[in-house]
Amino acid sequence: MRRRTTPPLFDPTAVRPWNAQVDGLGYGGDYNPEQWPDEVRVEDLRLLREAGVNVLSVAIFAWATIEPREGELDWTWLDETMDRLHAAGIQVALATATASPPPWLTRKHPEILPRLADGTVLHQGARQSYSVTHPLHREYALRMTARMAERYGDHPALALWHVDNEIGCHVPRDYSDAAAAAFRVWLAERYGTIERLNEAWGTAFWSQRYATFEDVLPPLVAPMFSNPTQQLDFDRFSSDALLDYYRDLRDTLRELTPHVPTTTNLMTTSTTQGMDYFSWADDLDVVANDHYTIAADPDRHVELALSADLSRGVAGGEPWMLMEHSTSAVNWQPRNRAKLPGEMLRNSLQHVARGADAVMYFQWRQSRAGAEKYHSAMLPHAGTDTDVWRNTVELGDVLRRIGEVRGSRVTSRAALLVDYPAWWAAELDSHPTQDLRYMDELRAWYAALWRRGVTVDTVTPRADLDGYDLIVVPTLYLVDDEGAENVAAGAERGATVVVTFFSGIVDENDQVRLGGYPGAFRDLLGVRTEEFTPLQEGESVRVVGKAVDGEAGADLWGEKTHVADGTEVTATYDDGPLAGRPAVTRRYVGSGAAWYVGTRLRRDGLDALVSRLVEESGVVPEVVAPAGVEVVRRAAEDGRAWLFAINHTDEAAALDTPPGTELLTGSAVDGRLDVPAGAVRVLRTTA
Ligand code: GLA
Repeated sequence: MRRRTTPPLFDPTAVRPWNAQVDGLGYGGDYNPEQWPDEVRVEDLRLLREAGVNVLSVAIFAWATIEPREGELDWTWLDETMDRLHAAGIQVALATATASPPPWLTRKHPEILPRLADGTVLHQGARQSYSVTHPLHREYALRMTARMAERYGDHPALALWHVDNEIGCHVPRDYSDAAAAAFRVWLAERYGTIERLNEAWGTAFWSQRYATFEDVLPPLVAPMFSNPTQQLDFDRFSSDALLDYYRDLRDTLRELTPHVPTTTNLMTTSTTQGMDYFSWADDLDVVANDHYTIAADPDRHVELALSADLSRGVAGGEPWMLMEHSTSAVNWQPRNRAKLPGEMLRNSLQHVARGADAVMYFQWRQSRAGAEKYHSAMLPHAGTDTDVWRNTVELGDVLRRIGEVRGSRVTSRAALLVDYPAWWAAELDSHPTQDLRYMDELRAWYAALWRRGVTVDTVTPRADLDGYDLIVVPTLYLVDDEGAENVAAGAERGATVVVTFFSGIVDENDQVRLGGYPGAFRDLLGVRTEEFTPLQEGESVRVVGKAVDGEAGADLWGEKTHVADGTEVTATYDDGPLAGRPAVTRRYVGSGAAWYVGTRLRRDGLDALVSRLVEESGVVPEVVAPAGVEVVRRAAEDGRAWLFAINHTDEAAALDTPPGTELLTGSAVDGRLDVPAGAVRVLRTTA
């Protein structure tokens, strides 16, 4: 055990804030000194100061360096790193070092390796080659975690614990024997008796009735579609199993270091589907997220905004940490483009605008070896005479200037409903179309609201919806009664609610709500669909009506829908198999309204409809801005507020704003904020 270097600064029974010892916003990245000789590490200290770094994630992939052979521990480099960083005034998010087991462990115990649904073993040689449910792996991981806590728990550089790394990133679903056994325990807890499982899974179908939990398997590769509820429960189980792994490590840390906050880096991106992060939130002392833009996506800054809003949603509106993003290119996409001039600053400040109190990167110094050597870093291969390094130093300076926003919260009156189990269920096989992607629908609505300048909170169907004037419910295929009632109550109370196709179809067991679609929302919307009519690939139809401001294209989906008395048809199919039938409807409910959109509107039609919904709900953008200029507001309890204006276009913009002080330039603003092409401005107002 390492000797205490300073007396504890905090009440040892309370978990302190992660940034208790950080001035303003956090700034830094992953730091992997084990990859470098000492002279480079010494140079790091000078350059870290020059960049204004104040927090680093350390030892994420260090298990094999710390314990090169079983039981043989080498702490020298890490002791030195912690001491040096402390001396440099840098705080550490210290990892449990468990993110990848060392080769000696998987050689000795190959049974801890995870497996795919077809039985393929995922071997050692990359990273994350372990099964989170294997008891032996857990034992080793807990031992490593305890060692870290015992050695560094009192170190003055320690700010927070970083448990493992991107848990579930590469192996979100493990089909090993250990996972199968844990799945059966999970099912027994969920259902109590095998009869209840049979009922929930509808096993009278295809002779799937189970005699005992022992007969149940994960959804392994099978001759035809596996039971959908089995697949859905395996998704739920897998998310819970990954969370259970986090919790076990966290509990060990909590026992040994009760005052140190704990987190793990999530991946709330539009492509990460494996974990129900809303159910993880209560176990994280601060939400931390990793996000990488997709080079091929021309609207990648909008996808970034969605990811940031998802992080804030998981954090329940509290400030969160951006734990990783990239200064420039990544190495894992098909074509990894470098960021354009100004893009790095815009990306980082987009996250801050949407609630991040820390801006961190993968990684500090670009590796010279290994699979990530072509991934950008704060300090690139080419050294300090580079744009990336100048951007890194500039960003440190900018974050210092805007440090006062720390702790403030993003304000929004629009809610976007998001649900991971609904995502999993919507994309199960054997559905009306294989082309429906939940995230495409969520993104399309998010993007239309973004273009309209509306900031949304991402919330689950069971969240408190009071205070939202606009509630958007894209393709919520699965919803339980409580969630459906909650949405309906929002409309009764006065909100404008919009529900889109293939929502409210099944209950939590993926069993269809009978009597006409969309069962859970039929009464609220005043519609009844008797049949779905998905469109063929490349096929589109025209819809006409005031909902879409005249005429609009639609694709993917159609429904044979009837409206109840009092439901207004606001757009109709003009051609195709559903010509003359309702496509978009509205019903006044209580003091609000409930809209139904039974097809997928193309961009123009969606923009027209979103404009109408925004006007009807009275949700006005913070500031009227030209297309491509993003404006988001953070507000503090003391009445101060900050308008972040991010210009994603090639043209300068001038915004009508309240008076205040612009923090990047230090200039007074008297009602007109100039935002040069590609630039970011942060205006402090007292309004
Ligand atoms: C994730 C991981 C990092 C690194 C980056 C590369 O964020 O946590 O270790 O692999 O991806 O983009």
